[in-house]
Amino acid sequence: MVDVAAIELLGIDKRFGSVHANKNISLSVAKGSIHGIIGENGAGKSTLMSILYGFYQADSGEIRVSGKPVSIRDSQAAIAVGIGMVHQHFMLVENFTVLENLMLGAEGGAFLGRGADAARNELKRLEAEYGLDVDPDAVVEELPVGLQQRVEILKALYRGAEILILDEPTGVLTPSEADHLFKILEQLRDQGKTVLFITHKLREIMAVTDTVSVMRRGEMVATVKTKETSVEELAELMVGRRVLLRVEKQAANPGDVLLSVKNLTVKDGRGVVMVDNVSFDVRAGEITGIAGVAGNGQSELLEAIAGIRKPVSGEIYVNGELLTAANPAKLRDMGLAHIPEDRHHMGLVLPFEENENSMLGYHHDPLYGAGPFLDLEAIRKDAADKIEKYDIRPPDPRLKTANFSGGNQQKIVCAREIERDPKILIIGQPTRGVDIGAIEFIHRRIIEMRDAGKAVLLVSVELDEIRGLSDRVLVMFAGHVVGETAPDADEKTLGLMMAGIAA
Ligand SMILES: Nc1ncnc2c1ncn2[C@@H]1O[C@H](COP(=O)(O)OP(=O)(O)OP(=O)(O)O)[C@@H](O)[C@H]1O
Ligand SMILES: [Mg+2]
Repeated sequence: MVDVAAIELLGIDKRFGSVHANKNISLSVAKGSIHGIIGENGAGKSTLMSILYGFYQADSGEIRVSGKPVSIRDSQAAIAVGIGMVHQHFMLVENFTVLENLMLGAEGGAFLGRGADAARNELKRLEAEYGLDVDPDAVVEELPVGLQQRVEILKALYRGAEILILDEPTGVLTPSEADHLFKILEQLRDQGKTVLFITHKLREIMAVTDTVSVMRRGEMVATVKTKETSVEELAELMVGRRVLLRVEKQAANPGDVLLSVKNLTVKDGRGVVMVDNVSFDVRAGEITGIAGVAGNGQSELLEAIAGIRKPVSGEIYVNGELLTAANPAKLRDMGLAHIPEDRHHMGLVLPFEENENSMLGYHHDPLYGAGPFLDLEAIRKDAADKIEKYDIRPPDPRLKTANFSGGNQQKIVCAREIERDPKILIIGQPTRGVDIGAIEFIHRRIIEMRDAGKAVLLVSVELDEIRGLSDRVLVMFAGHVVGETAPDADEKTLGLMMAGIAA
């Protein structure tokens, strides 16, 4: 058998102004394999995939598909050579059905003019072949994210994709949805498809890939067989130093209650009760973790405490003072800082420069100028200091925030909120999309906050994160706090509680 590579990249180079995002990258991806790509935030992974998918053009270099040089000017051209992308921020029309989404934009494709019946049959065939069960007549917005992602995969397959690119596909999935995705990817591979899979989770790399390539600062630094490597080695290849993969901390020294939630009930935008009569305290010098599968009310709880969402009933006390439904500015003045779980919608204004986001919400601080005038120099100096301390890349306070990679955007938010030295820190998903070196860094900052006597409330769907950081763990299910456990409770007990089955 002659092994023709599904994809070959030869000397791919790409700059964005002063940022050299891809440096002379060469890579060969075997047909019928799952090929992982890892690398620090800003290493250039998404850029490289965007070049393959025709979203960006390389400045130089060559792409070969099944041995043939191709020019991929846009996503149509990518689809024409059999490359499909499963987007992280799904590109589906939410109020259309699965079938309608599938047919949409595929007119020029393989099933031209065959109509809805033919499309339905083809969908059924694909579903059966790859174990991708979805109801063709379901409206997309009513499907959970795991199923929406399946529709994205089906859409790519429907267009005849032989090569599938998935850029951080598990960030939005529950652990069981992620497991299901891996089964699907394995099935795709076993049928001869090629999968390119980007993730920050080394455990996922070990679980599902055949080969893994490591990028660092725009360069491709290594490609190894998954079987022949280890999480430790990959971490070191990525970051260029040894990484502490476990959180190290001393026993907590809990003090006074600084944040108290009493009988809180919160509805979501559609009027559904998401937080139902919840009560708990958060003490100084302690990290209170809230575990749970995404969508069980954690987001609404955090938003209510941060003053972004008005609760229906109940009380929130900050430092003993009743502050239910106070506005975020007032809460910030009271020493409450918030790292929101959705950095794009709540943490940052993406079209603004980095230095503007670096002080967002704190512009009244005398540090940034007296009276009505902002001291731009002070603001940029302050931003530059945070960039250095948090190793935000590229180190340019004037760069538009949208042009930082996902993980670096998260560091901008963390730096802003932590460096305020608040009394109370409430945190949602602090390391979503963040690389392992930066996770280590952010985790250490959170522990330092605790050790400095701050009250920390941490919400995360990553069980490892909750168990590694928390001093006590509350579990949320269907809007209720269903129980409390020690962070070293075994995974099974926690899992059962998270599924609403009392342990
Ligand atoms: N449109 C753009 N304009 C300017 N700079 C950009 C643009 N897109 C990406 N960059 C820069 O190119 C570099 C590589 O970014 P890229 O998004 O490829 O990183 P990544 O490896 O995917 O990171 P992450 O793990 O955080 O997603 C970063 O420094 C980023 O700021
Ligand atoms: Mg990326």
